[in-house]
Amino acid sequence: MKNKKITSLLVSNESQFNRTSNLSSEISAKLANHHLTSNLFQYHSKRVTSNQNGLHKNLDVIVNKHIYHPYQRPIRQHNIVAFNLLYEKFSIGKLPQIILDSCCGTAMSTIALAEKNPDALVVGVDQSIYRLSKNRQSTLLPENCLLIQANCEDIWRLSVEYQLPITHHYIYYPNPWPKSVHLKRRWHGHPVFPYLQPLAKHTILRSNWLLYLAEFARAWELLTGLLFAVNEVSVIEPVTLFEKKYVNSGQAAYELVLSSS
Ligand SMILES: C[S@@+](CC[C@H](N)C(=O)[O-])C[C@H]1O[C@@H](n2cnc3c(N)ncnc32)[C@H](O)[C@@H]1O
Repeated sequence: MKNKKITSLLVSNESQFNRTSNLSSEISAKLANHHLTSNLFQYHSKRVTSNQNGLHKNLDVIVNKHIYHPYQRPIRQHNIVAFNLLYEKFSIGKLPQIILDSCCGTAMSTIALAEKNPDALVVGVDQSIYRLSKNRQSTLLPENCLLIQANCEDIWRLSVEYQLPITHHYIYYPNPWPKSVHLKRRWHGHPVFPYLQPLAKHTILRSNWLLYLAEFARAWELLTGLLFAVNEVSVIEPVTLFEKKYVNSGQAAYELVLSSS
């Protein structure tokens, strides 16, 4: 909604601009300046702020609870339908492996991964049809790429149940849910978290909020006994639209690369 507002502001500035030829140069200059500032605002993305100043105090308790009490929520019908699309495409194709791009948004990263990995089926999952369909008319999907509208938590459980050969699982810029009270909405605080170990050999996350990845790493340690470090990455070519937005706003990008064994 916010983006829409910004876009329409830019569009109306543009048309205003074209009608200024007979205005005084002073007014034109003001409009030009406003136009420029609006463009800059496209990349003015706020840093994540939180009322937490370290790992959540209940992190270990919550993660351990989810490890010992499996997630019971019934899988929703629309996610079963989406999973069937994935299963069918994988079964009829001759590709030996799958790469998953969870919370893929507009699928910029999914398409790039598919182009880089022609011997894998690359699947982008997002719950938002608005994000998934953005730019779709203008961008053709590679043959080895599939986008599904679904909730990751159900796709992950079904993929584990059907033992899909997922080699790499990317989660780029998950929603941070920075308020302390929202720990359970972060993927490492969610009851589905234990499924992430059997889901894929390698799990790769990026975030502009270091604490999110630090918590994820701690939760992974509780789940697998394996300890991994979060690194800052220097981004030359952004892999996703959110990354582009954060990097252009001068924010750091962090990455966590995990193995399941
Ligand atoms: C911050 S955006 C990042 C999008 C993309 N990865 C990027 O970096 O540009 C987070 C995305 O996660 C999606 N999302 C949030 N919860 C989800 C869920 N449970 N299942 C699937 N997608 C989800 C949202 O619709 C949104 O597109």
